[in-house]
Amino acid sequence: MPAIAVLGAQWGDESKGKVSHLLAAEADWCVRFNGGTNAGHTVVLKGQEFKFHLLPTGSLREGCKAVLGNGMVIDPFALVEELELLRRAGWEPEVYISGAAHLLLPYHRLVEQLSGAKEGIGTTGRGIGPAYRDKAERTGLRVGDLLSPEAFRERLARNLEREKRAWPESAELQRLEPGHLADEVLRIMEPLAERIVDTALLLNRALDQGETVIFEGAQGALLDLDFGTYPYVTSSNTTIGGIGTGAGVSPRRVERVIGVVKAYTTRVGEGPFPTEERGPIGERLRERGKEWGATTGRPRRCGWLDLVALKYVQMVNGFTELALMKLDVLSGLPELRVAVAYHCDGRLIEDFPSHPEVLQRCEPVYETVPGWTEEIKSCHGLGEFPGAARAYIRLIEEQLGVPISIISLGPGAEATIIRERSGCGRR
Ligand code: IMO
Ligand code: MG
Repeated sequence: MPAIAVLGAQWGDESKGKVSHLLAAEADWCVRFNGGTNAGHTVVLKGQEFKFHLLPTGSLREGCKAVLGNGMVIDPFALVEELELLRRAGWEPEVYISGAAHLLLPYHRLVEQLSGAKEGIGTTGRGIGPAYRDKAERTGLRVGDLLSPEAFRERLARNLEREKRAWPESAELQRLEPGHLADEVLRIMEPLAERIVDTALLLNRALDQGETVIFEGAQGALLDLDFGTYPYVTSSNTTIGGIGTGAGVSPRRVERVIGVVKAYTTRVGEGPFPTEERGPIGERLRERGKEWGATTGRPRRCGWLDLVALKYVQMVNGFTELALMKLDVLSGLPELRVAVAYHCDGRLIEDFPSHPEVLQRCEPVYETVPGWTEEIKSCHGLGEFPGAARAYIRLIEEQLGVPISIISLGPGAEATIIRERSGCGRR
């Protein structure tokens, strides 16, 4: 299976990192193709927790090379820090960075705060929007520009001056000195200069040679800039098309498209969320599921599984299989609800309206199914599951028309059931 996509199917935080890291055990390459440090991908390896923001989780696999694709916005300070943290833990991943990836610099973060996007959209405050704004505006600085230091210095100065003129009231922004910032970025990225390459070429050649490549998506489909609940979205394409534009590999080459689905739904930041539970159910999911942001520590909004949204996401992505995460969190709830349609403006609808004002007016129509009281964390196969848990899995598969091939029951690799075609096993 040469190319495998691991994509978030909800509003992010679906545990893509765990799935990607599992698969990377047998992969040659692991690739990030969108976003930047807004992502927070957690891996628990031999009891130790690692949090990734920029590097793909395959960086934590012997023999798996890491790629930061052209679709990313890369904060060089965060990258160097992340590499240093891994080094201290005894890991020295082989990392390649696309010269066409954009640089996210400290002024992007400041500008995001000043613009009010942090509050209005509830962004992660990492400067993602302003960095992609520069890209779309064609004024952005790219990683490859570091290889021409003089031109890099000049363009950085021009961009920073422009921001200073736009925000004269920001003392923090005014204090940034372009020459110093350029020197710092050039200095810290110097050791990586040889690794700034055409990663599209690298990955396509690897695939030509039959090597295995994992594409680790960041965020989730409902945060996609085009298909998500705009404007309450991130600034990149988190869906399958993002691999084409963000890594230079045709989606046609991707044989397995794995949609990562949490067994319930969460969302951080602002924006409509029809199945949100603000009362005790939401609290319970947050407590049991430890639903606090890996990047910002914010409490996540929690609610029931939404099959209306998932069907739409399935349509956009064409998943070949699903990974169902955190199923163990649902244990102990007497009954479970899943949204199968919405009531909106007096009508019953089954097609997900991504327009936030319409979605805001939607009331979910629930199917209520039995829950189970047993802890399932240490189950080794579906045969050990209570009947209600098996029925919940079947319901999702039937409604979406896609098989669930991975079931996760906890953060560690041991709490995973991999359903092979030949039966069920545990990793
Ligand atoms: P991973 O990869 C969950 C959300 C923010 C906000 C919106 C825009 O860990 O799943 P941004 O900073 O991207 O401009 O914020 O998107 N968001 C995420 N939510 N998981 C993420 O990443 C997210 N990255 C961004 O909360 O609502
Ligand atoms: Mg996250």
